[in-house]
Amino acid sequence: MTRRDLLRSSFALSGAALAGPASRAQKLLSAYPAAASADALSAVPPREHLLFDFGWKFFQGHATDPARDLGFGMGQGDFAKSGDFGFATKKFDDSAWRSLDLPHDWAVELPFVHDDILQSHGYKPLGRRYPETSVGWYRRTFEIPNEDAGRRVVVEFDGAFRDALVFLNGYFIGRNNNGYAPFRFDVTDFLNYGAPNFLVVRMDASFGDGWFYEGAGIYRHVWLTKTDALHLGRWESYVRPELHAGSADLNLGTQVRNETHRGAEDCRVRWRILDPSGKIVATAETAQQFVSADGSVPFTASARLPSPALWSPESPSLYSAIVSVESGGKTRDAERVAFGVRSAVFDPGKGFFLNGKSVKIKGTCNHQDHAGVGAALPDRLQWYRLAVLKEMGSNAVRTSHNMPTPEWVEACDRLGMMMMCETRMMSSNPEGMAQLSLMVKRYRNSPSIILWSMGNEEDVLQRSPQGPRVISDMVAHTHELDPTRLCTSAVNGSFQSHFSDGLDVMGFNYSLKVIDSYHREHPKKPGVGSETASTVSTRGIYETDTLRNWVSAYDANHPSWAELAEEWWKFYAAREWLGGGFAWTGFDYRGEPTPYGWPSISSQFGIVDTCGFPKDNFYYYKAWWGREPVLHLFPHWNWEQRYGEPISVWVHSNLDSVELFLNGKSQGSQKVQPLTHLEWKVKYEPGVLEARGTKDGKVVLVEKRETTGKPASIRLTADRTTINADGQDAAVLQVEVLDNQGRTIPTADNLIHFRVTGEGALIGVGNGDPNCQESDKQSRRSLFNGLAQVIVQASRTPGTITVEASTGPWPPPRLPAARITITTKKVMLRPAVA
Ligand code: GAL
Repeated sequence: MTRRDLLRSSFALSGAALAGPASRAQKLLSAYPAAASADALSAVPPREHLLFDFGWKFFQGHATDPARDLGFGMGQGDFAKSGDFGFATKKFDDSAWRSLDLPHDWAVELPFVHDDILQSHGYKPLGRRYPETSVGWYRRTFEIPNEDAGRRVVVEFDGAFRDALVFLNGYFIGRNNNGYAPFRFDVTDFLNYGAPNFLVVRMDASFGDGWFYEGAGIYRHVWLTKTDALHLGRWESYVRPELHAGSADLNLGTQVRNETHRGAEDCRVRWRILDPSGKIVATAETAQQFVSADGSVPFTASARLPSPALWSPESPSLYSAIVSVESGGKTRDAERVAFGVRSAVFDPGKGFFLNGKSVKIKGTCNHQDHAGVGAALPDRLQWYRLAVLKEMGSNAVRTSHNMPTPEWVEACDRLGMMMMCETRMMSSNPEGMAQLSLMVKRYRNSPSIILWSMGNEEDVLQRSPQGPRVISDMVAHTHELDPTRLCTSAVNGSFQSHFSDGLDVMGFNYSLKVIDSYHREHPKKPGVGSETASTVSTRGIYETDTLRNWVSAYDANHPSWAELAEEWWKFYAAREWLGGGFAWTGFDYRGEPTPYGWPSISSQFGIVDTCGFPKDNFYYYKAWWGREPVLHLFPHWNWEQRYGEPISVWVHSNLDSVELFLNGKSQGSQKVQPLTHLEWKVKYEPGVLEARGTKDGKVVLVEKRETTGKPASIRLTADRTTINADGQDAAVLQVEVLDNQGRTIPTADNLIHFRVTGEGALIGVGNGDPNCQESDKQSRRSLFNGLAQVIVQASRTPGTITVEASTGPWPPPRLPAARITITTKKVMLRPAVA
């Protein structure tokens, strides 16, 4: 039995305000550009990089019954001859298939099924025992004009779950067998010019990569790229800034590939370096070189930036380089890569330094799913999630346990968040090395990435003789591709083995008891808390209730292997040599329903829930990670059934002292001890609980929790009321129920119905309840402890979206409907396949 199987039994209850809607900085939340995708920006003419997300058809196939899987695999001969796959030709009729746009995750649409084997998937029926819901077919018809003859045309997937078989115009094109790395196929030879083309992708999610919710289907973007046959190699361009006093030397490199079949081409590469405002501040070019037919040749050069603006979480200055290959006076291919100038150093005795300044990593680990949409996040949600974490004072994320989507990395680069970037498969086998190479090449220009992670808790490798060999191969390969960054791995157990010898930086998962002795024995090895905490809590719950699968939200509960927020952060803050750490997790995620199990469908580790609504620990971190004064008082003050009983009242604050009042009567003042919370026991009576926080002798913040009345109205609030009319941008709406004095009711659980009209659609709903099995895709949702979330996505026609929220005919009470209007504005659309 693994530890994960023991979730329920090993959960140690060591020890119950609503974390009201967080006061998130509106500025941060609204930060989202008109063309958000780095990929969309990366193409420079004559290259075309076209979004291939719109206008797909979808069909749920069958993993074991060919008759229900388009006859695929019925006999022996499917792959016998080239060009025989009828479902990818004109003669196939897909009119009965469902129309959808990507990204798409079919797992989130499935019903929940009570089968313990499905725990990790959040009880969604995927796997070999669920063949009828584990295979999905995607089909897209598109035209390629005659003028494209002679260009190279590539279909590129940012990642899809999990086993992909790709067909075009009847031909088998290729396969991909992992859920996170990008894959691409040059389809030039198989195209129909001046005629329709039929692209088909069969996704089989029968096997998983992880032990957490992974989604199913083409859940990231797809692109169609057209280049000259003499072109830059994909993800071969790098900019390596080397920081010296006052200036930066840029080592520039790329690779040119000649697929013209016309013989050698004589070419040179040029770089134009643009500062954050888009002004050209440096240029470089190489000598001419011949690239033989079907050959690839590396090109390098250097440039200097006299006084670069440095990248940091506080000031994420992004430069870009336009790289072009020129031949005979003509630009044949060009791309733009974003980069930043910064130094990142791990010192074994003094911890982590960014740009020469000591910085503690205040990080969170995160999986990639969100309420309502599963693994298929619109790009905007990546920015939204990041803004929530930044608002907490966090400066880093770990992409546990897989290569991230490009938009998560881009959001980190552009909003300022450091990143520990992790590959999925720890192995030096061809698949493992390929995943690693793709990750490093894909993201090595991103300034946010400060560490590469070779993987997570590989129990067998950590204790076996193969482990050190595998790790040293992976680390050497990473250094070869990126000599500027260090490598770590998230290690748990076997700390005495030689596994960690090959790591540049030791990553500790939990294990507070062994960290000091490890450091004594390895004084030259820098360290970071690759995974910490795993504190569990249910948002808005203040009494653990094992029958309802609730865990109180006081910082009081964790499974046996884990730590409270206060425990781990005090530990790391007290040790200069440790670079900081990454709490498990920032967001709750589907699957791994710890600490309970069915009917819980998501984990309860998050500092915020699956919607991003803060739990109370959010304010512990905000107090001790952030810079603003914090005063957070909990629990809520609606305890009708507990009149006269003592209630535990907590405050997270970084002020000097806090005095608590109930209905105007002082309950005592307490001095704030750094990195600690304050606690009172208060006999319940309805009314107003008030905390007054003092700094330098003056009351600077006051927080109240009031006993609220009955539901009287609904309130809808949008993160942004103007979004891009690009078919992808989304508004995130918060739903609350108020009493007749306009106060949010922190315990409200009303079922709210939504009607979305105009230029947009509802793409998902959620409420952060780890036990809620209502559909993510229906247009109604119960509030959980006062809150629900609705995500609406814009169409490509500018106009308005109106969202109406109302209570249905049942259950009572009927509340007046609330309405909000979102404007969708005309923006330059990303170039897309028609
Ligand atoms: C860790 C593991 C994570 C998650 C966590 C739960 O050991 O790396 O993926 O399972 O435990 O506490």
